[in-house]
Amino acid sequence: MARKALIAEPEMVRTMGYVACHLEPPMTEDNRRSAPSPASVTDWMRNDWDARGGENARYYINTNEHDGFDFALSGCRDAFEVLGLLHKELRHDMRLLEIGCGIGRMLQFFGVLFAEVHGIDIAPSMVTQAREYLKKSANVQVHLGDGRTLTGLPSSHFDLALSFQVFQHIPDKQVITDYVRDTFRVLRPQGLFKFLVKTKPWNGQGPRPDTWNGIEIGRPDIDQWLALDPWRLRSVCDSVDPTKAWVVLQKP
Ligand SMILES: C[S@@+](CC[C@H](N)C(=O)[O-])C[C@H]1O[C@@H](n2cnc3c(N)ncnc32)[C@H](O)[C@@H]1O
Repeated sequence: MARKALIAEPEMVRTMGYVACHLEPPMTEDNRRSAPSPASVTDWMRNDWDARGGENARYYINTNEHDGFDFALSGCRDAFEVLGLLHKELRHDMRLLEIGCGIGRMLQFFGVLFAEVHGIDIAPSMVTQAREYLKKSANVQVHLGDGRTLTGLPSSHFDLALSFQVFQHIPDKQVITDYVRDTFRVLRPQGLFKFLVKTKPWNGQGPRPDTWNGIEIGRPDIDQWLALDPWRLRSVCDSVDPTKAWVVLQKP
């Protein structure tokens, strides 16, 4: 009973903020999704995700398990899912990069497993909270990114790049293509890139992609990535959610 009352759902946070501070009510998630898309897709993604991170980062990172221990535990489980199928190729001395790391839900577990771990995210509010969440993880660094490239990260440096529950929210295919291309740059030879994409529309989504209901990716998009850079396609396989799939690419 007492525990439940402490869980601040976004609606409650908004209402409390409005009543307590007499400010204009912040934009609701529904309004955010139906607002006209700004001219710059990266500004659009950054503004929306920065607001989500400021309102209730844990809720928007994991809408089903956002309470304290459940949230932490979900990071452990999902880190294991993301590493799944790659287990036999992993070593402790690897350098790992997570694209769209949020507040570091999975990074804290990657930091236990791997020697050097980096996360990058578009939202300043997420990056600030990640740095606090991971302050005891000395081998984990979090970077504020431009939302479509890995500018600032060194070339041919990482053994493993991962992205989970991020590209499914990106409303523009070119942004995903730009990430795939720049990941090729930052990986070392034989480096692996495993990422989740949305493959089918979601129930109740609006008529156009937005920064929550991102764009669907199909086989022609993967073929385009393979034509742009000499990736080796390791696998495309269903995730537990039938609207998404895992893609694994390897740099030769
Ligand atoms: C649903 S959360 C997932 C966070 C993390 N991957 C996890 O599973 O704990 C999505 C994250 O992706 C970030 N994000 C959204 N669009 C992005 C983009 N274009 N580039 C980098 N990060 C992005 C958001 O700021 C947010 O932190």
